[in-house]
Amino acid sequence: MAVHKKEINSVFIILTVYLHLTSGEFSYPDVFDDPERDTLISGQFPDGFAWGSATSAYQVEGGWNEDGKGESIWDTFSHEGRIYNNQTGDVACDSYHKYTEDVQLVKAIGLTHYRFSISWPRILPQGTLAGGINQAGLDYYTDLIDELIANDIEPVVTLYHWDLPQVLQDDYGGWENDTLADLFNDYANLCFAEYASKVNIWITFNEPYVVTWLGYGIGVFAPGIVSPGYAPYRAAHTIIKAHAKAYNTYKNNYFSQYGGKVSITLSTDFGQPKDPENEEDIGAAVRYMQFTAGWFAHPILKNGDYPDVMKWQVGNKSQEQGLPESRLPEFTEEEKQYIKGTGDFFGLNSYTTTVCKHKVTSGDPNYEGDQDVERNQPENWPTSASEWLRPVPWGLRGLLNWVKNEYDDIDIYITENGVSTPDEFNLEDDARVTFYQAYLNEALKAQMYDGVNLVGYFAWSLMDNFEWTSGYSQRFGLHYVDFEDPDRRRTQKKSAEWLTGIVAYNGFSSAQHLQATPLVICLSALIYKLFL
Ligand SMILES: *[C@@H]1O[C@H](CO)[C@@H](O)[C@H](O)[C@H]1NC(C)=O
Ligand SMILES: *[C@@H]1O[C@H](CO)[C@@H](O)[C@H](O)[C@H]1NC(C)=O
Ligand SMILES: *[C@@H]1O[C@H](CO)[C@@H](O)[C@H](O)[C@H]1NC(C)=O
Repeated sequence: MAVHKKEINSVFIILTVYLHLTSGEFSYPDVFDDPERDTLISGQFPDGFAWGSATSAYQVEGGWNEDGKGESIWDTFSHEGRIYNNQTGDVACDSYHKYTEDVQLVKAIGLTHYRFSISWPRILPQGTLAGGINQAGLDYYTDLIDELIANDIEPVVTLYHWDLPQVLQDDYGGWENDTLADLFNDYANLCFAEYASKVNIWITFNEPYVVTWLGYGIGVFAPGIVSPGYAPYRAAHTIIKAHAKAYNTYKNNYFSQYGGKVSITLSTDFGQPKDPENEEDIGAAVRYMQFTAGWFAHPILKNGDYPDVMKWQVGNKSQEQGLPESRLPEFTEEEKQYIKGTGDFFGLNSYTTTVCKHKVTSGDPNYEGDQDVERNQPENWPTSASEWLRPVPWGLRGLLNWVKNEYDDIDIYITENGVSTPDEFNLEDDARVTFYQAYLNEALKAQMYDGVNLVGYFAWSLMDNFEWTSGYSQRFGLHYVDFEDPDRRRTQKKSAEWLTGIVAYNGFSSAQHLQATPLVICLSALIYKLFL
């Protein structure tokens, strides 16, 4: 038979794809009726892909006042009764005492990485070096890092996951004050000096958009400041400078010896234009992503300055509001040069998609009003236990492509992705399995088909934990935590078991997702036998 091998291969591939489509397994079919886009594929992530799960200090550690730890703005905020049912992170998952057990949970899934954060007031109770270093705090993180390494798990450290020392809020007004950039740099330098020989991946800030908008704009997160038109821009300005300082500190003093990577983790939903054919809606979707992720990524990864569209929007609104200058602060030329290029990868946290429509807004100064975007999530989209989080798997692929195109094929770590289920005892968390399956499969498509340089994926979260203002009412964990139990017993959920298989294969083998009918299997076998 004079058929070339190449042709046989093509026939095989076409038939395989056809069989995938006819077997037709995809997630949320009753809502997203697009099998061509949403059908699950099989394939593997690149060698060396980082598989991790993530947590943060205030959400899991507890030990809020133990061994010399200072208070953070989240201790204050929760003690003021600002959280669902007056809950607090005083004990949380008690990881301050149970970190060895946590490491075994990570290991049991076969994960290669664990992302956690350092609590600034645990090692600098007064926020500053002058206020004294808490050796017990330093020791806690040394022990955790050593335990991870002893178990072949690479630590990924976030320096700021929202728990600012309360004294820095009291004495300086927190991130609105420029001085914080230097104080953060001192703290970062202390962490580098202690741990850089063991830690190779550093994240300066987690989700500064949430810090600034929820913390300083609408005040639903600590420190609870309500200043929707001004404070978020000022706080972000300091955070960007603080990030750049810490990055340069690492590059100048530690990089030549340890060769690690430093960057920032940014959060955004994918902005889907309401009418994908409408230029104005397309512009609105891009503006939304520039105002959330681009706000930080543009200066840090592009040119040291805010996105033009942000400068124009805030500049024009400020003018209309009769203000003498833009509410968006400016960087000096020197600062721009210093900030530009201070990121070795894009840390991306994403959970959902938001529909964006162009809508000119007027009124009092307001960061959201500045965007001229009306956002919503259609009522028929799937839901979770968090009102803001509707699973939209295809949005992740869209977002990864946006990041790739906007930031020049940069390496991307998905540093958080996951879904919440209600506060009930349920180890059969099929909703979470479906979510991870669908989202990870879209990540695979982005990597395999679109050439996105995706280098790692961190599931949020290793275990149920303190979900900020929602307290313990929403569970994001791969492990169930019994918060009534003084011992905070952890139990593996079905999603952890499912993820173990994905990690072991480094992707999706067809058996892992294709609910192939016997006929499909017979056909595949026949084709294989006939042609190969
Ligand atoms: C929260 O605590 C305050 C006192 O600190 C009390 O007045 C309030 O009733 C409590 N709310 C709940 C839901 O327990
Ligand atoms: C920053 O904090 C210092 C020390 O408290 C204070 O003197 C200064 O006025 C603050 N600056 C701003 C802009 O708030
Ligand atoms: C207003 O927006 C336009 C672009 O739409 C821009 O050229 C102009 O510089 C902006 N004005 C201010 C004050 O930022």
